[in-house]
Amino acid sequence: MKRMMIGLPLMLLLATGCSKSNDYQPDSGASGEDIFKTACVKCHQPKEGGHYFELDKEMANTTAIGDKIGQGSFSMPAFPNIQADALKDLSEYVLSQSKAE
Ligand code: HEC
Repeated sequence: MKRMMIGLPLMLLLATGCSKSNDYQPDSGASGEDIFKTACVKCHQPKEGGHYFELDKEMANTTAIGDKIGQGSFSMPAFPNIQADALKDLSEYVLSQSKAE
């Protein structure tokens, strides 16, 4: 029991890496666009031409985008509360607002 209590926070720490986690929770029924404009746009502004992202081959699919949202990175917070349909809608929105390089 004692061991589990030490192990769990450590696992969470490893799973989220260096990035902080954002506790944003989408409203039920929020579209991908709604979520993006609430939670993401403060860091991701539209580029010239109106698209938000220029994605390389590895990133230009909803799975990789969803992983990025769920896990974050060194400089982007993770959004563990964006799940299931909300994550799918948001990933599709991001892809639709991107140019593949
Ligand atoms: C605190 C600022 C911040 C917020 C909020 C944020 N991001 Fe990011 N995001 C970044 C930074 C910085 C990068 C570039 C570093 C990287 O790729 O991890 C990034 C990278 C990305 C990438 C990869 C882009 C590429 O060129 O590979 C995607 C996709 C992305 N963010 C989507 C989102 C979505 C969707 C949200 C909202 C749920 C969001 N971000 C919220 C800072 C943020």
